[in-house]
Amino acid sequence: MASQDHKKDVDKVTGVSTTGHEWDGIKELNNPLPRWWLWVFYVTIIFSVGYMIAYPAIPLVNSATTGLLGWHSRSAVVEDLERLNETRGANFAAIREAELEEIVADSDMASFAQAFGRAAFGDNCAGCHGAGAGGGPGYPNLLNDDWLWGGTLEDIHQTIAFGIRSTHDETRFGDMPAFVRDGILNRSEAWAAADYTRQLAGLPVAEGANLELGEEVYTANCAACHGDGGEGLRALGAPNLVNGIWLYGSDRETIFEGIANGRGAIMPHFADRLDDVTIKSLTVYVHALGGGE
Ligand code: HEC
Ligand code: HEC
Repeated sequence: MASQDHKKDVDKVTGVSTTGHEWDGIKELNNPLPRWWLWVFYVTIIFSVGYMIAYPAIPLVNSATTGLLGWHSRSAVVEDLERLNETRGANFAAIREAELEEIVADSDMASFAQAFGRAAFGDNCAGCHGAGAGGGPGYPNLLNDDWLWGGTLEDIHQTIAFGIRSTHDETRFGDMPAFVRDGILNRSEAWAAADYTRQLAGLPVAEGANLELGEEVYTANCAACHGDGGEGLRALGAPNLVNGIWLYGSDRETIFEGIANGRGAIMPHFADRLDDVTIKSLTVYVHALGGGE
């Protein structure tokens, strides 16, 4: 196809010589490259040589040439972090030193703690308590003023740092016994207690319910934790049964199920996982959600 003496082969129509390449009678014209293109091409070559001298570029056995500027992707990250810490640092240090009450009282610290706490909540708590902290069955709603363990800053801080029925030595603890499974009550006593609980809560009670037996069982077995009137006991995390807010549910079967098999939801502790500033910020954030005391 290619002829050796293509220089002599000139296209008759354009007067341009061909490269000598020919495909089915179609010949390739030997036009020079556009000047602007050539210049851009030379500039990229010069740039790449300069880049290789200035920045890490040529791979060696264990590393790469370091480049005259001494730039390193890792030191760039460190610089970014230092800059971030400079802007955050003052707030961090202030929160680290301050008591929870002082943080809430100072509008600058409080708004920083709330923003930081909100982000940390999304990362660490939303999986169980919901993105909006609204909770779900077995996971308390943190937006209302119904608290199992208490809603002051100190109470909330203690709950987050040490958990509930967690593996931490200082965890909150207190389980509801499994009355039927452990043979403390028989099934009809447990159903009666469930009916009596619904009556205490002001809910309709099944026809034929033995409320007399229910009251007897409740007074002997439940009142110590939930109170004579069902008002609950925070020291043990025993819920208020008469405020219309239910952790597990108010239907007869769910209440019976709790009496039969016990209750004791676990919240992990965060004292070893999150630093002081984060736990304080989470406390301020949760406290400000609506139910803080
Ligand atoms: C693995 C699931 C889980 C995670 C993660 C979790 N919690 Fe909890 N949390 C629970 C459960 C379950 C309870 C209820 C324990 C109980 O019934 O006594 C609870 C209870 C609480 C309470 C006490 C509510 C009350 O009424 O007294 C607070 C406050 C709380 N959580 C905040 C947080 C915060 C803040 C985080 C994130 C740092 C978090 N929780 C992460 C499961 C979780
Ligand atoms: C040793 C203390 C203790 C005793 C005794 C006890 N409870 Fe509880 N009860 C608790 C605790 C603690 C919880 C919450 C467990 C949790 O958060 O997972 C609870 C939860 C409940 C709930 C769920 C409330 C909700 O919001 O969903 C009901 C209903 C209940 N108890 C009824 C009873 C009845 C009826 C008895 C007596 C037969 C009884 N309890 C005896 C400690 C006790």
